[in-house]
Amino acid sequence: MREHGEAAQVTEMTELSFTAVATASEIAPETAKEVKVNGRSILICHSDGRFFAVENRCSHAEEPLACGRLKRGWLSCPAHGARFDLETGEPLNPPATEPIATFVIRINGDVIEVAA
Ligand code: FES
Repeated sequence: MREHGEAAQVTEMTELSFTAVATASEIAPETAKEVKVNGRSILICHSDGRFFAVENRCSHAEEPLACGRLKRGWLSCPAHGARFDLETGEPLNPPATEPIATFVIRINGDVIEVAA
């Protein structure tokens, strides 16, 4: 008589690779810091008491979003005024109609790490 072994449990996990990019204490509330990760320009934004990472490129006309205004979890494009939700990247008003890229972020002590 054959015995049946327990089926191996296969867990699929996507390993994210994090890169340290800044310290939390260096980014004042409602400001952002531009960093480069794997050749991409990313904004680490401190808004509404939280940190977010978004691509530093507007989905409307691909202008940089650095220097845009931050408030209550959104970032405005300095070129034509579209605002983006920092958590989802979704546009909140025209002229942008497409989201911007967002990235997973984690904070290790005071160190901000981003997966991009
Ligand atoms: S380039 Fe950002 S709103 Fe036009």
